[in-house]
Amino acid sequence: MILVTGGAGYIGSHTSVELIKNGYDIVILDNLCNSKYESINRIIELTGKEVPFEKVDLLDYDGVKAVFDKYDIDAVIHFAGLKAVGESVEKPMLYYNNNITGTLNLLRIMNDYGCKKIVFSSSATVYGITKVVPVTEDMPTGTTNPYGSTKLMLENIMRDISVSDSDWSIVLLRYFNPIGAHESGRIGEDPNGIPNNLMPRICNVATGKMEKLTVWGDDYDTHDGTGVRDYIHVLDLADGHVAAVRKTFSTNGVMTYNLGTGIGYSVYDLIKTFERVNDTSVPYVVCPRRAGDIGALYADCTRAEEEMGWKAKRGLEDMCRDTYRFLINNPNGYSE
Ligand code: NAD
Ligand code: UFG
Repeated sequence: MILVTGGAGYIGSHTSVELIKNGYDIVILDNLCNSKYESINRIIELTGKEVPFEKVDLLDYDGVKAVFDKYDIDAVIHFAGLKAVGESVEKPMLYYNNNITGTLNLLRIMNDYGCKKIVFSSSATVYGITKVVPVTEDMPTGTTNPYGSTKLMLENIMRDISVSDSDWSIVLLRYFNPIGAHESGRIGEDPNGIPNNLMPRICNVATGKMEKLTVWGDDYDTHDGTGVRDYIHVLDLADGHVAAVRKTFSTNGVMTYNLGTGIGYSVYDLIKTFERVNDTSVPYVVCPRRAGDIGALYADCTRAEEEMGWKAKRGLEDMCRDTYRFLINNPNGYSE
């Protein structure tokens, strides 16, 4: 059985569906601090399978241990964590405690139960302010905010664990910019509060919740001057986790993979594609650059293809269309 921590969240819910479709038995652990139980109902609806759910906080050591007592867990996919960059700058202790202590609890318990296979949600944020693109996994790392630091520290903690005990099999997945939703329109991203990321903001403008999108800078050294990123469909990301968990059953040690498409799209590319495929309009205004932003960041995903046989299949049009479908079908997200 696979334990999916954070499985009620955006990426975890899509991955849970794909795991079940690929024949895995799963149990989801989540404290619902940034998600709703309704996403579990939708996973059940989409797969036609009962999915065991445990509302447990990773900071609750005994609670996590009880989950390992109750289920026979062979491997863990570990999504659970806090992820808002700005909030992490304001509340570093919250982020270090939740992400680091929570993961240490999990790793200690896994070790005690002899479960030594883990797939971890890292992030392209560990490349810091790199100016070289596309980025490969062995390029230097560095971080610029507490959120990013938790990801890099956890990568290093897991590398040390692997050095000390070669039975561990650890896959570190560095995601680029996940967007999109399940093609059914039943699960998708339902952010709490005012979103900071580009796609959720485009959605807010398209649905009239925001009047205009702010384009942060059109003077970067990119094809149209706006920031370039590697947007990846959340279902391609989910497939990447299925490949990664498979990898943990065949190889020991630490493996690090970029998960992106390898293609860089600009803010204007995203706006125009979203408008065209969804027949809607996204008015915008250009403002100065956002502090801390870099011009272009996209991935070299050769290693994931060569070693896991995984490659992103979906294009920007699919990402924009599927995002909008979830939005239109669920105007209040997962709320009643
Ligand atoms: P999300 O917030 O939708 O999902 C994370 C889930 O973890 C939520 O359901 C939340 O309730 C749960 N959680 C948080 N702390 C917990 C704790 N202490 N105990 C139990 N559950 C807890 O986020 P997401 O976008 O699905 O991201 C999943 C993972 O991928 C995160 O670790 C995130 O940092 C990482 N990541 C996300 C992105 C992105 O842009 N979405 C990019 C790179 C990496
Ligand atoms: N942007 C705008 N207007 C907006 C929002 C974003 O112009 O309203 C631009 C940004 O300047 C950037 C691009 O859109 O050029 C993408 O910005 P996002 O905030 O969506 O994504 P980032 O790449 O800046 O950050 C994301 C995650 C971080 C993660 C980072 C590195 O939010 O958690 O990728 O992978 F650390």
